[in-house]
Amino acid sequence: MIKLFEDYSLKNHNSFKIDVKARYFAEADTITDLIHFVKHKPLTQLPLIILGEGSNVLFKSDYNGVIIHPIIRGIEVIHEDGKHVIVKAGAGENWDAFVEWAINRHYGGIENLSLIPGSVGACPVQNIGAYGVEVSEVIESVETIDMTDGELKLYSKPECNFGYRTSIFKNELKGDKIITSVLFRLSRSPVLKTDYGEIRKKLKKYKDFDIRTLRTVIMEIRQEKLPDPAQIGNAGSFFKNPVITDEEFKKLVRIYPEIPGHPSDTPGQWKIPAAWLIEKCGWKDRCIGEAGTWSRQPLVLVNYGNSTGKQILELAESITRDVSEKFSIQLEKEVNVI
Ligand code: EPU
Repeated sequence: MIKLFEDYSLKNHNSFKIDVKARYFAEADTITDLIHFVKHKPLTQLPLIILGEGSNVLFKSDYNGVIIHPIIRGIEVIHEDGKHVIVKAGAGENWDAFVEWAINRHYGGIENLSLIPGSVGACPVQNIGAYGVEVSEVIESVETIDMTDGELKLYSKPECNFGYRTSIFKNELKGDKIITSVLFRLSRSPVLKTDYGEIRKKLKKYKDFDIRTLRTVIMEIRQEKLPDPAQIGNAGSFFKNPVITDEEFKKLVRIYPEIPGHPSDTPGQWKIPAAWLIEKCGWKDRCIGEAGTWSRQPLVLVNYGNSTGKQILELAESITRDVSEKFSIQLEKEVNVI
């Protein structure tokens, strides 16, 4: 069934907890309803966007359009062999509840992505990643509905054009598709990824460990370092980690010998932690009004109470300007501004 609300508060639908309204808010829990809504466009003159759990968006003002909020549920194993299982999860499932579901069945591959806020449907859009794993490594395909004609289309993994925090759904197809479910290939004999420094350190206290242990440890690391969106409004990393060339990196090392950098997936390029650049510019644990950077991870911008979206954006722009002036590096937003 489609539930349609008018002048609807979005405060509980965005993890920044920005108090804005949508002209219309349409909630749909079946694919048939979504197709019907898209084909008949009852409010056709207005712009349309799709919103999952709102954990990667910043609303800078009221939205004078229609927000479609798909809440398609269900997790099922659709194929299995000795080594793998193919699991189909509805876009409206909570991401971390899905990780927990997989771990309870000893299906591995997503344990490093524990506690990332958001829905299953949002995970392929920005190709969520943490602690050495990106979700694209386990995505088999993505099921979608076209926003224009309601046609169903399945995107295979190569068709999704996954990259660092990006995919076809964030670029060429931005705003064109509603993701209804995601198919994952999970492993029945997972290889644990423990390379990330802090993980290894934490695992030392365990004699044996498995995907459950890894989940526990990663949840600990995240809880120590990142603000819980249920307590303090935030959308995780606000910026991407910038990628620069070998030459640019060498130039910076001469001035800042301590600058951290990791070789990127593309040869000849380096990924620099935006958190370091932001801290070096003096922006760690600082506020503009009630918008601030998080004390333990300045890559995360937070709403300490009643910040508006515009104030968060002003803070982001000040940080971007300072990083650009000091390092000649242009920070790119990871969060979608609406
Ligand atoms: N750093 C500082 N100061 C700080 C914190 C970090 O200088 O206060 C520097 C340090 O050099 C540190 C480096 O930043 O070694 C990396 O920090 P961290 O391990 O926290 O990772 P990140 O690169 O800042 C990325 C993701 C996070 C993900 C972590 C862990 C992006 C944009 N962010 O952050 O993802 O949890 O790695 O894998 O790639 C998210 O997307 O919302 C998110 C939180």
